[in-house]
Amino acid sequence: MTFTLAVAGKGGTGKTSIAAMLITWLARERRGSILAIDADPASNLHLALGLPLPMTVGQIREDLGKQNSPDGLNGMTRVDYLDHKVRMSIEEGVAMDLLVMGRPEGAGCYCAVNHLLRQIVDRVGQAYAYVVIDNEAGMEHLSRRTTRDVDLLLLATDPTMRGLKTAEAMIHLARDLDIRVGTAAVVVNRVHGCVSPSMQSALAALPVDVAGYIPEDERVGELDGAGLPLAALDGNSPAYAAVAGLARSYIPA
Ligand SMILES: Nc1ncnc2c1ncn2[C@@H]1O[C@H](COP(=O)(O)OP(=O)(O)OP(=O)(O)O)[C@@H](O)[C@H]1O
Ligand SMILES: [Mg+2]
Repeated sequence: MTFTLAVAGKGGTGKTSIAAMLITWLARERRGSILAIDADPASNLHLALGLPLPMTVGQIREDLGKQNSPDGLNGMTRVDYLDHKVRMSIEEGVAMDLLVMGRPEGAGCYCAVNHLLRQIVDRVGQAYAYVVIDNEAGMEHLSRRTTRDVDLLLLATDPTMRGLKTAEAMIHLARDLDIRVGTAAVVVNRVHGCVSPSMQSALAALPVDVAGYIPEDERVGELDGAGLPLAALDGNSPAYAAVAGLARSYIPA
């Protein structure tokens, strides 16, 4: 059985950093195969993982749109062609594989292909023990239903009311849309010292747990600034140690 976890939340709250640290932790624990999915059109998870940027699912869709003749598909059906292309696009790292979604469907791109691609990505994920999805900022992926059927939805926020309101709105939207989420939990990132009393009461009033508090950690910023993978972090990094702690509690072995 695949355990799927997704990181979502307001822009710049640390979704990509948290996803990369979770993936690093899973890889170190050697719990099973890992597929990282970069579902942000800005596609930068590969940098945090130290992998090259592979061809994106968006590019595959655009290429298909340009193929007018059936010969372009090498005699394959559309489904087989897309399935083959998506599997070929996966970047195989030592510790994890990476699939990059790229730009979402634009105007004029017909739904049937997107539906097919979604099914293919789901099927590809089923071959892994863990699938970790780094989402784009905001709630669009929930309304598009590209985030669904996740075992764990981590809502990243910084210690600000605006971040927390976005996380809260996402909890309600996921419920209203009846999106299947096993567990949803908030992760407060970039905490300097303690969170304010008003933030504490707002967190306590949430209908979900707070999975963890991740301290501000200058090493994270330094590595990110240099475009280096977060795998350089170890237990001495307060941020990595906090992510490892929440992973131990929320991700089954
Ligand atoms: N715990 C932390 N300590 C210090 N810096 C952090 C921490 N978490 C994230 N950052 C920094 O905050 C910035 C935003 O982080 P990141 O890119 O992970 O956020 P994001 O939510 O994925 O952003 P976006 O919405 O643009 O995708 C980066 O410069 C990153 O290095
Ligand atoms: Mg990001």
